[in-house]
Amino acid sequence: MNLSQPTEQKRQSLIRDALKPFENDSLFDELFGICDCLFKMALNKDQLLHDDADNPIEHHTTVLAHMMEIVRTELDEKRFNWDQVKQSAALAILHDICPVRKITEDMIRNAPPEQQAKLREERESSVPFHMRRGAEMAREKFLVLNEKFGKSIFDDEKINAICGIVLIHDNPKLGKKIPKDNWVAVMLREADRLWMVTLMGIRADLERKHENPDDLEKQLAQVEKNIKRLEEEREIYAEEDGPFYDNRFFFRNPIAKKIFDKWCDYWKKQGLRGD
Ligand SMILES: [Fe+2]
Ligand SMILES: [Fe+2]
Repeated sequence: MNLSQPTEQKRQSLIRDALKPFENDSLFDELFGICDCLFKMALNKDQLLHDDADNPIEHHTTVLAHMMEIVRTELDEKRFNWDQVKQSAALAILHDICPVRKITEDMIRNAPPEQQAKLREERESSVPFHMRRGAEMAREKFLVLNEKFGKSIFDDEKINAICGIVLIHDNPKLGKKIPKDNWVAVMLREADRLWMVTLMGIRADLERKHENPDDLEKQLAQVEKNIKRLEEEREIYAEEDGPFYDNRFFFRNPIAKKIFDKWCDYWKKQGLRGD
């Protein structure tokens, strides 16, 4: 994907929009400062703007927006404190910091037979690398962040916790569960996967395949495909890993499920069939 450096105005407006649930908080400026500093540092050709980066920069701020909607409720219901809000925001921005070429099942299926095994191998090794190297890259960013602010925004324990989630965030792609006792990791997984049903996420999928992102029929076909993939992810979980909202999807967080339902309603209005 050919990604260019956004202007400062664009970068800041993406962050500001994502932080809307906190716009009236007295600590908004601190949260904005941390998010913008991390995003700015990661927007370089080795990381979020790398040629192999498989998502537009809006992916990171959309995941941030979902995460902020989720943690707003956690804060209001006193399950979270302000420190955890900051950690969740930092995690959302940096979770995909390590670029790897995206290899989908479709790409493998459509490749000439002699290339399929190699592609599958690349896919299998790229996910662990994306998470392992991503955790290291995120750690470096936090150390620079602390230096820039001249104080410990995140101490060692918090940095370890955030990087520990970067290290497992795509485990479901390897058939491994996100454990329910790591509630922030559960939230991130749901905030991240929700991208697949957003209009921007669908358009990015079509662009990656060199298909017309404005074609409604193509959009609907892609939504159907993505919803199927979300259903498949549920299959790695057993009942005791829940409670889940239903037997069909892996949502364990009520706000994430609400965002998902909102997008399903949007797509139904556009003509999506099925339930
Ligand atoms: Fe990822
Ligand atoms: Fe992601």
